[in-house]
Amino acid sequence: MELKKFIEELKSALAQNQFIKATLANKIDKNSILKNVFIKPVLLKNKLQLNFVYRNNTNDITKNFEIESGLDEIENLLKTTFRNADAFTTTHELHLMISKNNKATLIKKATKNATEINLSHDHIKHRLVQTTANSYLHALGISNADGHIKTAMQAKYKQINRYIEIVADILKDIPEQNEWHITDMGSGKGYLTFALYDYLRSQKNTQANITGVEMRSELVKKCNNIAQENKFDTLHFVEGTIQNTALKKVDMLIALHACDTATDDAIAKGIEADAALIICAPCCHKQVRKDMHTDGVLKSITKHGILLERQAEILTDTIRALLLESKGYKTRVFDFIDWEHTPKNVLIVAQKSTIDKATKAKCITKIHELKKLFGLEKHYLEGVI
Ligand SMILES: C[S@@+](CC[C@H](N)C(=O)[O-])C[C@H]1O[C@@H](n2cnc3c(N)ncnc32)[C@H](O)[C@@H]1O
Repeated sequence: MELKKFIEELKSALAQNQFIKATLANKIDKNSILKNVFIKPVLLKNKLQLNFVYRNNTNDITKNFEIESGLDEIENLLKTTFRNADAFTTTHELHLMISKNNKATLIKKATKNATEINLSHDHIKHRLVQTTANSYLHALGISNADGHIKTAMQAKYKQINRYIEIVADILKDIPEQNEWHITDMGSGKGYLTFALYDYLRSQKNTQANITGVEMRSELVKKCNNIAQENKFDTLHFVEGTIQNTALKKVDMLIALHACDTATDDAIAKGIEADAALIICAPCCHKQVRKDMHTDGVLKSITKHGILLERQAEILTDTIRALLLESKGYKTRVFDFIDWEHTPKNVLIVAQKSTIDKATKAKCITKIHELKKLFGLEKHYLEGVI
C-alpha cells in the first residue's frame, strides 16, 4: 500500500514537473553487485523520460525509460532488490522504508527550500580527478592552461577518472592505511600514475610512494620533470624493463596496457613481492593467440580472425585469473571503460586473500583442462611465477 502511494507521489510530481531525483538503496541481497539506483528526469528529444543509473560495485549502467515503464521499474526494484527509497520533489521529500517483513513506511515532508530541476542530459559530472588547480594535467597535455580538458583528450580524461573511481571503490573494501607503496609497471606517459598519486594524496590524505617503471627513457625523463615541477616528492619514474625490475615493498602493483606478456611479467613481480593488490589492464594477447591450436568444433570459432582474437583474450585472462587465485589472490575481471573509448577495456583486480589449498588446487586443474581444450602447451605466466 505504502509502496503504491510512493509510486503515485512520484507520478504526480512528474506530471507537475516537480520531480527532482530519487535514490534506491539498502539492497536486500547483500551479495548483489548492484549497490544503488539513481533516478532523475531528463529531457530527451523534447520528451520527458527517467534516467536510471544502476551503480554496481565496479561500474555504472545507465538506462532511460519512458515515464510509465520507469515507474514500473522503480516499483519492481522496490519489490525485489532494495528496501529504501528517497525521493525529492520541488515541494516534498519522500522516504520509503520496507522492513524485512515487507512492512512499508512512507514519510512525506515538505521541503524548506525550493529547488530547480535540471533536465539536461549532459550535466557536469563530479569527477575524482579535479581539473582546477591541477597543473600536472596541463603538463601532461590533458588540459589547457586554464584547466579545461582539451577536446582531443576527453576520452583519456574519462578513462583516468574511471580508473580512479575503480581504485577508490577497491580501497573501500580494504583496511585503511596511511602510506602506500605502489609500482606502476609500463607507466608510459604517466597519465594514470599521476592521477593515482594525486588522488591518494589530496583526496585520501595518505602518503603515496609511487614508482613508475618504463623502458622509454624520454617518457621517464618527461614524467620526472613534471613530478618535480609539481613538487610530487614521492612520485618517481625509473627507466627499466618490467622483467628486470627488482621490487622491495609493494602494496599495490599496477600494469595498465603493458603489451602482451609484459602484463604477465608484471603480475609475476606483484606475486613475488607479495603485493596486497595487483591491478592490470591487459593489452594484446599474442602469446596465447599464436600458441593455441583448436580442434573439432572449437575450430568454428578460431577460423574467424576477430573471434580468434577474442577467444585468445578470454583464454589468456581466464588463465591469469586462475593462476592468481592459485597464488592466494581473490580475483575479479571486469569492464574497465566503455568500448567506445578503448578496445583494451578489461581490468583484472587481484586482492591478496586467504584461499584454501583445495580451491587453489582446483584452479590448477581448471588451467590444465582449459589448456587441453584449446591445445595450448603453456601460458607464459606459468613460466614466470
Ligand atoms: C600502452 S602504454 C600504457 C601506458 C600507461 N600504463 C597507460 O595505461 O596509460 C604501455 C607502456 O608500457 C611500456 N612497456 C611495455 N613493455 C614494457 C616492459 N617490458 N618494460 C617496461 N616498460 C614496458 C611501453 O613503453 C609503453 O610506454
